[in-house]
Amino acid sequence: MIKAIVCVDKNWGIGKDNDLLFSLPSDMKFFRETTLGKTVVMGGNTLRSFPGGNPLKNRQNIVISRTQVRDDCIITPTMDAFLAEIRARKDEDVYVIGGAQIYREMLPYCEEILATKVDADGGATAFFPDLDAHPDFACVFEGERREENGLSFRFTRYQNANPKTL
Ligand SMILES: NC(=O)c1ccc[n+]([C@@H]2O[C@H](COP(=O)([O-])OP(=O)(O)OC[C@H]3O[C@@H](n4cnc5c(N)ncnc54)[C@H](OP(=O)(O)O)[C@@H]3O)[C@@H](O)[C@H]2O)c1
Repeated sequence: MIKAIVCVDKNWGIGKDNDLLFSLPSDMKFFRETTLGKTVVMGGNTLRSFPGGNPLKNRQNIVISRTQVRDDCIITPTMDAFLAEIRARKDEDVYVIGGAQIYREMLPYCEEILATKVDADGGATAFFPDLDAHPDFACVFEGERREENGLSFRFTRYQNANPKTL
């Protein structure tokens, strides 16, 4: 099953200056626990945004990039090749982990979105599509409100009523 996992602000903002908007240790823990041992797929900028520009440990990393070359993860130079790698694994859990370009391209194929919603304006320049305004997506779970680092947030889950077949 293809899913996306994302942390958004109240405007569905996800990043600025090729970095995250917030530092939420419990969200990082949730991300790590959810994706460990799974396949994660991302765009070239998201790979560059990781510490040292390195892929995530203990996960199969698939990256779409026209410019990057490395042998410690799978790099695909075209959307067709990227989709083929994902198609080959679609019976396992595959997590789309960003960023804005790749979330937008992959959203139709995602059956589920795990969205951590932060009740703040992070001044984003990169955005996730607004799922509350999307005809195919409905919120099916909303966790209790939590507080951390002076931020209020909750874990939510959205389902796609009309996922596109890969
Ligand atoms: N809040 C969250 O949960 C979250 C999660 C992930 C990322 N983010 C944030 O999102 C922002 C980055 O988003 P973004 O939209 O700039 O970047 P992105 O989606 O991570 O990557 C875009 C890059 O992907 C490659 N690409 C895209 N389409 C392609 C195609 N058709 N063929 C070949 N390569 C293609 C290119 O890589 P090359 O330039 O390498 O060729 C392109 O520059 C950052 O601020 C990051 O921190 C937030």
